[in-house]
Amino acid sequence: MSNAISNQDVEDILNTKFTIPVGANYDVEVLEKLMNFKVKDSDIYLIGHPKTGTTWAQEMIWLIANDLNFKEAEKFIDERFPVLELFSFDIGKSNPTIETPIYHTDPVKVIESQKGRRFIKTHLRWSYLPKEIQDGTKRPKVIYICRNVKDTCVSLYHYWKNILEIYSGTLEEFCKVFLAGRVGSGLYWNHVLQFWNKSKTESNILFIKYEDMKTNLFEVIRRVASFLDKSLDAEQVTTLIKRLDFDSMKNNPAVNHDNLYKKSGFMRKGKVGGFKEEMSADMIRMFDIWTNECLEGSGLENYYN
Ligand code: A3P
Repeated sequence: MSNAISNQDVEDILNTKFTIPVGANYDVEVLEKLMNFKVKDSDIYLIGHPKTGTTWAQEMIWLIANDLNFKEAEKFIDERFPVLELFSFDIGKSNPTIETPIYHTDPVKVIESQKGRRFIKTHLRWSYLPKEIQDGTKRPKVIYICRNVKDTCVSLYHYWKNILEIYSGTLEEFCKVFLAGRVGSGLYWNHVLQFWNKSKTESNILFIKYEDMKTNLFEVIRRVASFLDKSLDAEQVTTLIKRLDFDSMKNNPAVNHDNLYKKSGFMRKGKVGGFKEEMSADMIRMFDIWTNECLEGSGLENYYN
């Protein structure tokens, strides 16, 4: 099989017409507001491309930082750990029947009203982040999560098609939308590499991987706790691991998002390598060529090739 991507493949990708109808078509006014958001050094940010396991990481980080306060953790995750951009606000606007108040309130106001240490999640790429983070005037703790790009793409496809019901094409077509970077957060590896490269030199940025959470959650919890200056004993870590287990989160209304969508299934499969069951060999090849090119020399290549 040839390793080259054909001209037709490239043309198909460049001609992809689909544009994401919710959330990420930030106009200048919205971006300006986000970029002028006032950051505090004590803030904790969780950042990741959509569908990289951000909800899982949100729950882990929140519980570590709050000494496993399970009582408070009964509150909906996006109330405890709001999403900065208007993505969630747009979901509320397009679904007026959703009762969760945060989806009808400007998230910036919600965050500004948080008492104590603030928890903020975002899917924004580095160049859209609040300016105070970009220029280093403020140095909040930033945790970035990354996932295998093919699993991320398949997860996003199912989310748009089956949960949000805003996409009706095939997975093959969706892969081209994704490869063209028309999925709101831009080109996947650009998103990841901006944070990966920063994490090499900036001690306030911690880079974690979905796959490590699957294979060695104990070690990831240990790293995150140390990054947040928290210490958990072995018993607490064991309790937390059980709590973060896929089935446990799937059945937990505070994190499974069943309150938000008409259909359940946000917690879909939670697998590493699930893409192999659905993606065509040609599409896998296109993703792999692209990934190899993007990651060459980055230090991530041994992990994600
Ligand atoms: P799948 O669609 O592949 O199952 P995000 O929260 O960033 O939107 O990411 C959602 C993805 O993370 C979904 O992937 C979801 O199932 C997975 N996920 C959520 N909680 C998980 C957990 N506890 N263990 C493993 N995967 C989890």
